[in-house]
Amino acid sequence: FNLADLRQSLLTWYQQQGRQLPWRNTRDPYLIWVSEIMLQQTQVKTVLPYYQRWLDTFPTLESLAKAELQGVLKAWEGLGYYSRARNLHKAAQIVLNEYNGVFPQQLSDVLTLPGIGRTTAGGILSAAFNQSVSILDGNVKRVLSRLMALPVPPKKGLKSLWQLSDLILDPENPRDFNQALMDLGAEICVKTKPRCLLCPWTSHCLAYQQGQQNQLPMTETT
Ligand code: ADE
Repeated sequence: FNLADLRQSLLTWYQQQGRQLPWRNTRDPYLIWVSEIMLQQTQVKTVLPYYQRWLDTFPTLESLAKAELQGVLKAWEGLGYYSRARNLHKAAQIVLNEYNGVFPQQLSDVLTLPGIGRTTAGGILSAAFNQSVSILDGNVKRVLSRLMALPVPPKKGLKSLWQLSDLILDPENPRDFNQALMDLGAEICVKTKPRCLLCPWTSHCLAYQQGQQNQLPMTETT
């Protein structure tokens, strides 16, 4: 299939239908990082008020690094999965002490920070620095599985989805492309009853063309 068409149709859709989200109005890696950690296990609409409150309490990486753990956990209250807050706090201290408070831009450095895996690193580096680093969260796995009509068998399937995410990422605009992919998964290519008639990718989507969009992917992809 035609990669240029695939990318352009998604980006055009995103410009018209993409969500306006507060972390998309900044290039500050700290602000983007906080959003990505909150969004790891929590939905956008739940995250929004906590995100604003968090930034009032800890507006900078330094303010977070220097805060008491108790205060950090208090600000996280209601979001659950508290290891995320502990890791965020610990990682902020590492960035302050080992990187002079400047969030690293090297993928291998970012991946050493507690609480940051490949998808979160890709989300941060693409959004903050427009780096071509791909992502593969639960939503994106589902989108790509349908696109290629892949049934997603456990291990081998995951490796090919990472390769696919790398392949289709638009090197001209990785920032918007990754955000668009997340919106497509959250708003259109939803788990049950995908809204294919509104999807910019129907002409590319093998599952749709085979009438398999309700059957695929077969395994849980969260
Ligand atoms: N889920 C994870 N990261 C996200 C982002 N940047 N925007 C919307 N949903 C997300």
